[in-house]
Amino acid sequence: MKIASIVGARPQFVKLAPFSKKIREKNHEIIIHTGQHYDVNMSASFFKELDIPNPDYHLEIGSDTHAKQTGKMLAELEDVFVKEQPELVVVFGDTNSTLAGALAAAKLHIPILHIEAGLRSFNRRMPEEINRVATDHISSFLYAPTEAAMINLSKEGLEDISYLTGDIMVDSLKLALEKSKGRELVNEKMGLNKEEYYLLTLHRPQNVDNYEYLSNLLKKMNKLDLPVIFPVHPRTRKILRDYAPNTLDETYPAIRFIEPVGYLDFINLQANSKAVVTDSGGIQKEAYILKRPCVTVRTETEWIETVNSGWNKLLAPDSEDFIEQIIEHRPLNEYHDLFGQNVAAKMSEIIDSMELKF
Ligand code: UD1
Ligand code: UDP
Repeated sequence: MKIASIVGARPQFVKLAPFSKKIREKNHEIIIHTGQHYDVNMSASFFKELDIPNPDYHLEIGSDTHAKQTGKMLAELEDVFVKEQPELVVVFGDTNSTLAGALAAAKLHIPILHIEAGLRSFNRRMPEEINRVATDHISSFLYAPTEAAMINLSKEGLEDISYLTGDIMVDSLKLALEKSKGRELVNEKMGLNKEEYYLLTLHRPQNVDNYEYLSNLLKKMNKLDLPVIFPVHPRTRKILRDYAPNTLDETYPAIRFIEPVGYLDFINLQANSKAVVTDSGGIQKEAYILKRPCVTVRTETEWIETVNSGWNKLLAPDSEDFIEQIIEHRPLNEYHDLFGQNVAAKMSEIIDSMELKF
């Protein structure tokens, strides 16, 4: 079967790696990179470290407003689909690249497979929520990572096209851990002992787009009992550069601001941290799989089972006792497999048995 996989943003490269490897055993895959993320450490480094084949098409769309970015992707993707005539278009997650890939395919009557379907934050102010809901409802096949996602899809009348596959990031993480064997531990390279630092990531518009809000959050993180390692997402970097050029180290001495790191180093930084503080979707899952306590600086999450398990805690950035809540967060020892195993193989088997019709 000829399959076109559409990616564009960092978490999609992580998800593509094990999927692509598996489906290439029996199918002809082409990879289309929209160019939503383009810094070397947000894109090319993932292809290199995870041995993802070079994209067959790189659309180089870059950054813009939602409508302009998504619109440009739509137009370019249509041209590629018309030329390549894929039998199946695969989209991952909930970014603008996901929605553009699905919409361009739907208009050409090409069946769509959505990986990471059924996630809901029930917050329509998040661009991702719009992207996921719209993508699920124009797809032909939905791969749900969790039981909760299956329930959401069923409530929306989509159960007939939904499959509980588990989460592809389980396989991504396994791949990273295998590739990391024998590699120097990045925390040691940075002079950080195991479980003697926090790892922080922030990139959600509601947390980072307003500098005052972001700086209040960072002021609180600066008061934690251990150093905070903060690989800064480019969205966040832009705000910090605009409002606080050259003063970060002075203002927040306990926070180490670094560039985004490669996937293997990031997994290692998570695995050896005391706890992870984040607003990322993927990192909430990775922290759980790596058995690290996680604090999610949001008021809701799509990955509700990680919260119900006690390993992940939702914490509003403006909470009075923000610092204490992080320091005192200790999950119970109880641990269940929430995200499945050998997920790419399951996904590939379902593809083999698909009856492709739009
Ligand atoms: C996007 C996704 C989000 C996902 C995140 C993963 C949408 C609507 N959002 O958010 O769901 O969680 O990726 O990281 O699709 N920039 C650079 N270099 C880059 C990429 C971005 O400098 O390589 C800067 C630009 O100033 C850009 C800003 O970051 O305007 C935001 O990038 P964008 O892709 O629009 O959204 P993200 O916040 O990255
Ligand atoms: N990640 C990385 N380096 C970093 C920060 C994150 O490799 O400096 C990886 C992380 O391990 C996870 C993915 O990027 O697999 C998460 O991406 P992000 O938080 O940007 O997006 P989200 O998952 O929220 O959509």
